[in-house]
Amino acid sequence: MLSDELIAEIEAADDILITVPMYNFGVPSALKAWIDQIVRVGRTFSFDGQNFGGLVTGKRAFIVIAYGAAGYAGDFKPADFVAPISFSY
Ligand SMILES: Cc1cc2nc3c(=O)[nH]c(=O)nc-3n(C[C@H](O)[C@H](O)[C@H](O)COP(=O)(O)O)c2cc1C
Repeated sequence: MLSDELIAEIEAADDILITVPMYNFGVPSALKAWIDQIVRVGRTFSFDGQNFGGLVTGKRAFIVIAYGAAGYAGDFKPADFVAPISFSY
């Protein structure tokens, strides 16, 4: 099925680069559809009822975000659903 094919692509990759524009404060629907295919419990992540764990390891993921506006700092920060937290992984 498509989900297996997309996960196999990720597993075969050395590293992962995701480029994403902000669309109406969130990610484009095509990217969300891809995320929904690759995020699978027991396959790409584990969940023991309390903690989540990643199951695809040994590679780096980079996310490049493009904004059309001047940025979502200050009062607008809660409206940013593309990078709502600062990434420090
Ligand atoms: C449907 C649509 C919705 C968008 N919504 C936002 C938005 O909410 N915030 C924002 O900063 N930019 C928004 N943009 C602008 C895109 O983020 C911008 O086009 C993208 O980063 C690429 O930059 P460019 O158009 O200068 O090439 C939107 C663009 C489109 C087409």
